[in-house]
Amino acid sequence: MIRSIKDQFGERMYNVKDINLAPEGEKKIEWAKQHMPVLGLIRKEFKKEKPFKGITIGMALHLEAKTAVLAETLMEGGAKIAITGCNPLSTQDDVAAACAKKGMHVYAWRGETTEEYYENLNKVLDHNPDIIIDDGCDLIFLLHTQRTELLDNIMGGCEETTTGIIRLKAMEREGALKFPVMDVNDAYTKYLFDNRYGTGQSAIDGIIRTTNLLIAGKTVVVAGYGWCGKGVAMRAKGMGANVVVTEVNPIRALEAKMDGFRVMKMEDAAKIGDIFITTTGCKDVIRKEHMLLMKDGAILCNAGHFDNEINKRDLRELATSVRVVRNNIEEYKLGDKKLYLLGEGRLVNLACADGHPCEVMDMSFANQALGAKYILENHDKLENKVYRIPYEQDLRIASLKLKSMGVEIDELTEEQKKYLEDWREGT
Ligand code: ADE
Repeated sequence: MIRSIKDQFGERMYNVKDINLAPEGEKKIEWAKQHMPVLGLIRKEFKKEKPFKGITIGMALHLEAKTAVLAETLMEGGAKIAITGCNPLSTQDDVAAACAKKGMHVYAWRGETTEEYYENLNKVLDHNPDIIIDDGCDLIFLLHTQRTELLDNIMGGCEETTTGIIRLKAMEREGALKFPVMDVNDAYTKYLFDNRYGTGQSAIDGIIRTTNLLIAGKTVVVAGYGWCGKGVAMRAKGMGANVVVTEVNPIRALEAKMDGFRVMKMEDAAKIGDIFITTTGCKDVIRKEHMLLMKDGAILCNAGHFDNEINKRDLRELATSVRVVRNNIEEYKLGDKKLYLLGEGRLVNLACADGHPCEVMDMSFANQALGAKYILENHDKLENKVYRIPYEQDLRIASLKLKSMGVEIDELTEEQKKYLEDWREGT
């Protein structure tokens, strides 16, 4: 049920599980804030300059504490915020309640049905946003298909993740994209850290929290060797797993091989894996023929954006019974063996844990905050395309992050600068 609050922030609407959970959510947000120094500096600037005064920002992101810090940063910059989740299982109800208390319009709860999920995206769009911040492109997709009457008002958007960028580039190719979008995912200070170290740590975190099982000595099959797969494979290896990588791209497969992993087809990996983690961004990576080959007790989970990497319909069709054996673990009985699915095959790091570490999201969300400001200041000059984050923004975020970590680096001397620019000077 939609409710409203009226206080010093003005009147706003919300639909969350329980508004009384706000104090717990507030504690989580405070903790995250303390560990997100780069976003903190941007917040200070925004607070002073109020660049978003009079601007409504519609957001669909995993609604957990770090996301709340981003939303609050934009609010401090003068924006009105309407926010929902970008996955039915990743919203933290206490954080959503705290966001409503903090002055945002919030429509999100953990465990939304598909209809409720789309209803909540629509509720955000009902606020007629000027700027969109999306993770996975569902909000932008809805705008371009069912809410086209709102397109005229949109200055542009920012997209967080690989899956969303793939969709947006397909829209751009077909001439279907109706506003400029900043590609936050491909900023160096995003993917090199978030996709790799973020997913690497948080996916393993989700598995460990949920199962309470040992990684050491297990055969862990990582499907996909993009930046997320690289991170997961690296961390699983670091914890003593025997890591197998499956990949369709020969260059990435070669990289995995030379990084020291066993590389094979999923049909071969299926027979030996104890834990399977999909990170491909593609559907049906683990399907019927693989499930039939798996060992008794194999654990399946996904770290890609959508819950279609493990074919759940196949799993259900093969199963003679399904039951929940532990929070976030479903047991599928296939003849005399059992397979275990974590977090309904949704992003294991968010459905079964708290998402990426704060220090990593600090940089990802600094890119979102500055990306939104870039759209605000440049939208009239931009075409309806997907744009890379300016390199200067990346350098600034990296420099601020290093500073916050107390790391100093060298600078080129004038002589060195000249040397690098002079093509005549060889020795
Ligand atoms: N927390 C908020 N957004 C996230 C994302 N896209 N991945 C991991 N953790 C997150």
